[in-house]
Formats: sequence, C-alpha cells, structure tokens
Amino acid sequence: MWRVLVTDEMRLGELKNPEVRLDYKPNLPREEILRLIEGYDALITRSRTHVDAELLQRGTQLKVVGRGGVGVDNVDLEAASRRGILVVNVPEANTRSAAELAWALLLASARGIAESDRKIREGQWDRKYLGLELDKKTLGIVGLGRIGGQVARFAKAFNMRVLAYDPYIPHSRAQTLGVELLDDLADMLRQSQFLTVHTPLTEETRGMIGRRELYLLPRGAVVVNAARGGIYDEKALAEILEEGHLWGAGLDVFEQEPPKAEHPLVRSPRVVHTAHLGANTLEAQERVGEAVLERVIETLKGNLAHAL
Ligand code: NAD
Ligand code: MLT
Repeated sequence: MWRVLVTDEMRLGELKNPEVRLDYKPNLPREEILRLIEGYDALITRSRTHVDAELLQRGTQLKVVGRGGVGVDNVDLEAASRRGILVVNVPEANTRSAAELAWALLLASARGIAESDRKIREGQWDRKYLGLELDKKTLGIVGLGRIGGQVARFAKAFNMRVLAYDPYIPHSRAQTLGVELLDDLADMLRQSQFLTVHTPLTEETRGMIGRRELYLLPRGAVVVNAARGGIYDEKALAEILEEGHLWGAGLDVFEQEPPKAEHPLVRSPRVVHTAHLGANTLEAQERVGEAVLERVIETLKGNLAHAL
C-alpha cells in the first residue's frame, strides 16, 4: 500500500489503484505538512507548497514528488536527488490555459478593462478612456517553449508581428511558428510594443527584465507576466509604471504569493491582476490532476520515464 499526500488544491482523477491511499489535504499549513510527511511515500503539490530540503528530510519514506503543473522552482531538485527522491511534473497539461490567460491580461491591460469595471461599480460611466489596438503591432516573447509558442500562435489572429528571444531553441521552431527569433534581448525589447515572458524562474531569468530592459521598451508598451514572479524586477516595474513610461501591466504572478496589500504593484492603477490563475481552468485542472496522479503511481511502481 502506497500512501500519497496531496497538499494543494487540485482536481484529481478517479483513483483506480487499490494499492494507493490518497489523502487530499489542500491548504494544510506548512507546520502540519512537516509533521505529517513522515508517513507518506509520495507528495503531490502545485506551487503553494515549498518542497525544500527540510520537508524532504522529514519525508523519511518519501519516494516521489509530483508537481501538478510545469514549474518546479518550488521543489529543491538537488536535495531530492541527494535523497533519491524522484520528481515528476505534467508540463503539457496547462499550456493552453496559461497562454489564454496571458492574452486575457494583455487585452485587459490594453483596453483598461479592470479600471472601467471598477469605475462602473463606483457609479461612474467614464467613456473618455482610449485603449490600444493590436493590429500590426509588435509582440516580444521571452521564452518560446510550450506556452510562449501558443501565445505566438494566438498573436497571428490579431495580425501582430511576433519576435522572440530564447537562446535555447533552434531557429527552425521559430520559423514553424512564423516568429522572428532574435539573438539579442535588447534588440527585441526596443521593438516590442507588447512584451510577455514565458521562461521558467531560474538563476538566469530572475530579474532578467529590470529597469534598463523596461526602459528599452517603446514608450507606452504593455508588459505581461503569466510565468513566474521575479522574472521582472518588481521594484523597477512598479517605479517605471509610476513614471509613466509604460501603458500598463498584466500580472498573474508575484515573487511572494500572496503579495501584501501595500505592494506597489498591487496598488498601481496601471496593473491588472489575477491570483496565479494561469492553469486554473476546469479543463486544465482535470488534465493536470489526472496526469500527475497517474505519473506518480507509475513512478512508485518503478517506471522512471517521467522522472526529471
Ligand atoms: P517550456 O520549458 O516549454 O518553455 C520555457 C522556454 O523558456 C524554453 O523554450 C526555454 O528555452 C526558455 N528559456 C529558458 N531560459 C531562458 C532565458 N534565460 N532566456 C530566454 N528564454 C529562456 O515551459 P512552458 O511550459 O512554456 O512554461 C513556462 C513557464 O511558465 C513555467 O516554467 C512556469 O514557471 C510558468 N507557468 C505559469 C503558469 C501560471 O499559472 N501562471 C502556468 C503554467 C506555467
Ligand atoms: C505551473 O507551473 O504549472 C503553474 O504555476 C500553475 C500551477 O501551479 O497550477
């Protein structure tokens, strides 16, 4: 009998395997997770649970960590590897939903949707606001992987020119997507009236869009982050929005989640927010839940095909 603990909100598939006992305890405080983990063979999480060295050390029976999604920046992969704990994720299950949310944020920011909604609720019928059109504008994408690629496909429907910066993909991928792949990030930023990032959070990408990079964007540009908090330098972004160089920002993610109410980006009227909802559609969560459970059980059985 394998015991599997689930510590984040998830729509798990039907459990068909009688050898598995699943304990679904989303929103457990960290102290409780640390106390309980000892008795489990596998742990399934999303981004809320920090699977760090301390948690892995407490999991003396732990064999597999399943990440219900793509990003494994909340899992200490080195500590897991040292302890012989396998980590699996389901990177393809939420691509479409994350790409759709990036577009929702971009459009909401370009058309002032959150602000207009707020004004109507406050009793104001303000028709003076003018937004931005996308036709023939340039979209810059940092990271042309699964989600970045899907964002690029959608851009074609808006008749946009699409540029990308991703030093790790072949030019043939960009060509297939009808995207111009540039070797120089600064070169892409100078041309991008809209910018969206779709890289993982790594040592290299943390803070990669800072003050200097944001000022390279044309005046009045819109920026989007539906990847990870910290890829844009939050302090620089808040200041540059305040200084008026940017039109606005659409943000799904923060360096610290949830962010504090007094965070300058939370308070900025130029930002439209969602609460890390990129993967939160009925469809994506069904795919994620089913796939992560299946992968964890397969890995417990000794099939290492999905181990990172
Ligand atoms: P992916 O691995 O398919 O694509 C990531 C791309 O980023 C790759 O092509 C890689 O070459 C590129 N890249 C890496 N380092 C780079 C750098 N320094 N500069 C430029 N490009 C770089 O991953 P994906 O499935 O497209 O997901 C991307 C990220 O989106 C995930 O790592 C995750 O953090 C985030 N995400 C967020 C949500 C959400 O709910 N907001 C949902 C899904 C994924
Ligand atoms: C991911 O990396 O897949 C996202 O953070 C979405 C999620 O955790 O649900």
